[in-house]
Amino acid sequence: MKKKIVILPGDGIGKEVTTEGKKVLDAIAARFNHEFIYDYAVIGHDAIESTGNPLPDETLARLKNCDAILFGAVGHPKYDNDPTAKVRPEQGLLKMRKELGLYANLRPIKLFDELLEASSIKPEILKGSDILFFRELTGDVYFGEKGRKDDGKTGYDLMIYQRYEVERIAHKAFIAARTRKKKVTSVDKANVLESSRLWRETVQEIGKLYPDVQLEHQFVDAAAMKLIQNPRSFDVVVTGNLFGDILTDEASQIAGSMGMLASASVGDQVGLYEPIHGSAHDITGKGIANPLASILSAALLLDISFGMKAESEAVIAAVAATLKEGYRTADIADANTPANKRLNTQAMGDQVVSHLKK
Ligand code: IPM
Ligand code: MN
Repeated sequence: MKKKIVILPGDGIGKEVTTEGKKVLDAIAARFNHEFIYDYAVIGHDAIESTGNPLPDETLARLKNCDAILFGAVGHPKYDNDPTAKVRPEQGLLKMRKELGLYANLRPIKLFDELLEASSIKPEILKGSDILFFRELTGDVYFGEKGRKDDGKTGYDLMIYQRYEVERIAHKAFIAARTRKKKVTSVDKANVLESSRLWRETVQEIGKLYPDVQLEHQFVDAAAMKLIQNPRSFDVVVTGNLFGDILTDEASQIAGSMGMLASASVGDQVGLYEPIHGSAHDITGKGIANPLASILSAALLLDISFGMKAESEAVIAAVAATLKEGYRTADIADANTPANKRLNTQAMGDQVVSHLKK
């Protein structure tokens, strides 16, 4: 198959990890006789520096003209410590999600057995955990009306959901649950928030269309606790944008490290694939970032956007084999990892690729 992929490295370690993700896509193309054509575009701080705009029109045009997007990360510490900055790297990411209609963010939390010891959670609690998050991505407090009033002394962000937004993500969650353990946990704060009551009401109604799938509701505070207490009790989780953002960072500990978690953002058009970790400026340029989240994002891209199941599974198997051989980047290494198994970003990518050449 011939496919066009846009690589959006973005900021910080985004460049380092997408280089490895692309390397793996190249290895897949060679092994399975595909032709992947790449295009590059700028976003985030990188784009602000060169164009003044975190999502230039030029980038958007390229994104609308491809078969899939491999994205790195956006962000810069300069803005984190300057809440008054009007133009911010993250605006590029949010606008891109909205413009491309990427309303469903799939975040699979699956622990490779080899990494049982890498998490701060006890192995016996973790073993066998396999959760698929559906985080709503283009609504909620992220996109509600926001502003300042009273001479700037009051700030507000409106938490808002419309029925159709909840319906479409709920459908996706139920459909996915049918291919898994047939359980959906919907997470909200319906004991307090009106937007959550609309969320719950809508999910309950959609749930009636999937009588073979068990539906339960949890409040977000309780869900945050149960994720750590008993991660195996979850199968598919569907939740709003803000709750999903927070819960999936928490859930990354179930997979050992943030550096392991991939995500897919899909909607009506092109799909976007990215690690859940951020730009990590503290380690940028040191070559020590874990590229596996980007590599596993490439695996999701192959499966979801290109329908290449075997290719996707080959990537996951290559990652598993690399971990089984004991290779670790710093974030997943422990005191028992010998020096010759400690790899930098590039060497980890090479190791995964070596399994794809076999
Ligand atoms: C994520 C990130 C983004 C978000 C930031 C960078 C705007 O944390 O993708 O989870 O909050 O959605
Ligand atoms: Mn986040």
